[in-house]
Amino acid sequence: MNYRHAFHAGNFADVVKHVVLTRILAYLGRKDAAYRVIDTHAGAGLYDLAGDEARRTGEWEGGIGAVLRARFTPAVRELLAPWLEAVRAVNEAAPDDSVLAGQLRRYPGSPRLAQVLARPQDRMLFCETQPGVRAALEEAVGRDPRAKVLATDGWQALNAYLPPKERRGVVLVDPPFEEPGEFHRLAHGLAEALRRWSGGIYLLWYPIKDVRAVDGFRREIERAGIPKTLNIQFDLRTVRQADTMTGCGLIVVNPPFTLAEELRTLLGALAPVLATDGAGRARVGWLTPER
Ligand SMILES: C[S@@+](CC[C@H](N)C(=O)[O-])C[C@H]1O[C@@H](n2cnc3c(N)ncnc32)[C@H](O)[C@@H]1O
Repeated sequence: MNYRHAFHAGNFADVVKHVVLTRILAYLGRKDAAYRVIDTHAGAGLYDLAGDEARRTGEWEGGIGAVLRARFTPAVRELLAPWLEAVRAVNEAAPDDSVLAGQLRRYPGSPRLAQVLARPQDRMLFCETQPGVRAALEEAVGRDPRAKVLATDGWQALNAYLPPKERRGVVLVDPPFEEPGEFHRLAHGLAEALRRWSGGIYLLWYPIKDVRAVDGFRREIERAGIPKTLNIQFDLRTVRQADTMTGCGLIVVNPPFTLAEELRTLLGALAPVLATDGAGRARVGWLTPER
């Protein structure tokens, strides 16, 4: 397994995933009761945008870089705020000699976003199987009694750690999609997890590259009878190109009631900013309705 998220950190797909995650976390944070975040494929937690990998692809420039250059309405800025606050929080310690003109030097992955937004009563579990990446994640998370970094396989975590004792929270499933059968594993893992914890919010990320595989995945979720499922499709361009990721999608099970409307506003504003040709397109719709 060669996947290294550092090449892609802060790109359009991270932006889309992370704004959705932070909207869910903002919603969970409205009530005092503790919540739990379970991140089954956590990655390194924090990425150096001036580092070798990020510089080699430059993908972040069309993602977080483009967002920081864009102008948004006050309503969109308010929805982006929790995510951008977390981005700012990890950059405060950036050295002055940053090659990025003293501005953006680091980008927070999902574990650091969760950590920055969590309150004292909230808890986080981060699973990462690659030892080198896990060591980086441990360093990024630091000593935090609210958070645990585990070597547990993310697919097993869906069985082992559900339901959490807080009985509220979000499970992020964000595998690298490098192995065949990943779409099926995702749909199957979700169905199993829901058997253990039907009330949790689940956020699943998938690439839009092989359209037939995506259609098959969505049909599998529909057939599994999973209720209350939102599908978000984000297209960077309208023309498909074989073997190229032209967009990404997210499945949200049990979304907060505010989420669909928020994302229509937010992703609608991000589509032209992140697009690589034309205006891009964001679609937010129910894959399966509430029962
Ligand atoms: C797409 S990246 C995660 C990005 C992260 N969720 C974020 O948004 O910042 C996927 C990560 O999963 C790790 N991984 C691969 N297979 C895994 C498994 N079976 N269990 C846990 N982690 C795994 C990879 O090493 C990689 O770091």
